[in-house]
Amino acid sequence: MDKEQLIECAREARSLSYSPYSKFAVGAAVLTKDGSVYLGANVENSSYPVCMCAERNAIYNAMMNGKTRDDFLALAVIGDTEGPISPCGACRQVMSELLPGDCRIFMANLKGESRETSLEELLPFAFDGSDL
Ligand code: THU
Repeated sequence: MDKEQLIECAREARSLSYSPYSKFAVGAAVLTKDGSVYLGANVENSSYPVCMCAERNAIYNAMMNGKTRDDFLALAVIGDTEGPISPCGACRQVMSELLPGDCRIFMANLKGESRETSLEELLPFAFDGSDL
């Protein structure tokens, strides 16, 4: 599966978003070494802080299907943004712990624009378990 196909999976995931409060639907998809793809969309709640982002739902979906850190090859995220969508800070922290350092990250928007980044670029000097 290539980058464009994974972004297409994220677009499909976006259609499953539950976002009646922000009306801002986000989709994500993670690719694992065995070729499996796991989807996630943002799921909101009337108690706003309880909202969950698409990226974390996709990663957690993969984990609940038995995948671990070293299985992940790439994550794609898509939203209706001017430029490619940028993951929030909470997702960056989770991604830096649960994805391998060389995981490819694709950020995209509905206009067909995308940009590749890395965990190091998204969250330099990350706090991690070794700091505890
Ligand atoms: N959101 C995501 O799902 N991922 C991001 O990277 C940015 C924000 C969601 C959270 C909330 O449901 C909505 O977008 C507006 O912030």
